[in-house]
Amino acid sequence: MTDLYAVFGNPVAHSRSPEIHALFAAQQGITVKYERRRVEGTLAQALAQFAAEGGRGANVTVPCKEEAFALCVECSDYARHSRAVNTLIRLPEEDGQIRWRGDNTDGIGLTGDIARLNVPLSGTRILLLGAGGAVRGVLPALLETAPAEMVLCNRTVEKARTLAQDFGISVAEADDLSGKTFDIIINGTSASLSGQVFRLPEDVFPRAQLVYDMMYAAQDTPFLAQARACGAVQSADGLGMLVGQAAASYALWQGFTPEITPVLQTVREHLCHA
Ligand code: ATR
Repeated sequence: MTDLYAVFGNPVAHSRSPEIHALFAAQQGITVKYERRRVEGTLAQALAQFAAEGGRGANVTVPCKEEAFALCVECSDYARHSRAVNTLIRLPEEDGQIRWRGDNTDGIGLTGDIARLNVPLSGTRILLLGAGGAVRGVLPALLETAPAEMVLCNRTVEKARTLAQDFGISVAEADDLSGKTFDIIINGTSASLSGQVFRLPEDVFPRAQLVYDMMYAAQDTPFLAQARACGAVQSADGLGMLVGQAAASYALWQGFTPEITPVLQTVREHLCHA
């Protein structure tokens, strides 16, 4: 029987995960069924239905990652530290109970992509923008790479302070960043979803080795457009992170680690010619 997987969230209509996982399965020489499932009630209800259909594993996206964490009977360290789950692995049932293990591959999706861009993380100074779920999800893996400095900056400073306290990192306000040097600047805000830009002092961009946006688009995201206009040396969007997190999920389910680069190329072509 073909293995059944799905991505759960709302919205999910534009998710690229089915295409990505089909390409991974082709590399492995198998086919898998990977569906989009829009969560309208609770995630628990949607998962119960999915399990009844034989679902073996799932990805979870906005806004269900925290609920996914809450319903898992066991979790990886990444999931526990970020209190969010993007990958569910079905465990054997106990007393007729459906049980899930939770992991979070977003962070290694990001760190793996930065490594593929030949930019070191260890010993570097990182400026991370945002203080929402997306940033919380990647912080454990980012900190594991042992950066020299990790500074959090968010529109709502109080939210950055709370998150920074949890992870023992520092906070700065955008206006105070002029004259500061960061090796890597990562945008983890959702500002571009509403067509807005997280504004930073212009002089931080040309000093960075890499400006990275966790969002992706066919053209430059507004944040990357700002960075380039200010003289950023190297910039990248989050499509590589998306494929990377998917590859890590696939490996957890299938015990097969797919090659990311060819899949990233194909998905990029499809994104640009859609
Ligand atoms: P996600 O799961 O995508 O992280 P979230 O938890 O709602 O979503 O967090 C959204 C993040 O993007 C927050 O850091 C938010 O800043 P605030 O904490 O000030 O709300 C940030 N964000 C969203 N729109 C923004 C904008 N127009 N300018 C700057 N930051 C923005």
